[in-house]
Amino acid sequence: MKGVLYYFSGTGNTKWAADKLKEIFERYDLQLDLKSIEEEKRADTRGYSFLVIGTPVYAEIEPKIVEDFISTVPVTETQTRCIVYSTQGAAKCSAVRRISTELAKRGYDVAVEAMIEMPNNFYFYFGKEPSDKKMRRVMIGAERKLRKLARDFSRDREQKQRTSALRLSVGAFAGKTFRKSIPKISQNITASGDCIKCGLCLRNCPKGNITFEGGLAIIHSNCILCLRCIHLCPENAILYKGRRINQTQKDIIKHLELK
Ligand SMILES: Cc1cc2nc3c(=O)[nH]c(=O)nc-3n(C[C@H](O)[C@H](O)[C@H](O)COP(=O)(O)O)c2cc1C
Repeated sequence: MKGVLYYFSGTGNTKWAADKLKEIFERYDLQLDLKSIEEEKRADTRGYSFLVIGTPVYAEIEPKIVEDFISTVPVTETQTRCIVYSTQGAAKCSAVRRISTELAKRGYDVAVEAMIEMPNNFYFYFGKEPSDKKMRRVMIGAERKLRKLARDFSRDREQKQRTSALRLSVGAFAGKTFRKSIPKISQNITASGDCIKCGLCLRNCPKGNITFEGGLAIIHSNCILCLRCIHLCPENAILYKGRRINQTQKDIIKHLELK
């Protein structure tokens, strides 16, 4: 059996989980093609017997780039089986249930929902910086969860995570309100004079939102706050509120196919 996994990943966590899932699935004779939502734009499930969606969580819900992509998933009458997983700093979120509800409306059978706790890449806005110990603990937990997910799916077992109606409505409100504030928050991201104009952030910004002007990388107004540029910069020259942040994602971000 072969499935397709569509993911968006700003700083590598969701892609790490996708890579891990592909590896674990092979042990169950399940093949998985991984496709980046940034590259694909539209979902195409032809020729696949199951569908997996992977998303990070931005203020409780999925980023808009993922929401827009889900609206391109073709309607089916075959009850294609699906897995929806999220990665986030906390234990739970509303994103997974929101996506699985949307897929169910399109005729899919969402067999597995998984919310996977991973390092919080936006700790400098909320929460606290994950220590090395916490990072290790969280990654071990994440891998365990992915193994269980694969086992349940391969045995045709359902695995749903409880998400209350209250959480869904409050989450939708918080998430949509946050989305409106992204242009303002993203104004806090700037490049310092340490920028060596290597072009890594320009080439890898999912929105093509960075250019070089006057010898500096300029972050324009189309930022989706994925934080890739901040965690990726080899000189740690992309600042938040004028300060360098500790690039806690610098290892895991290597899972992205960087240009
Ligand atoms: C804009 C933004 C908002 C976030 N909001 C939440 C949140 O509401 N709850 C949470 O647990 N984590 C939140 N996070 C943390 C990310 O969901 C988490 O680190 C995720 O695994 C990142 O995945 P990625 O590396 O694939 O982009 C947020 C991160 C960003 C960038």
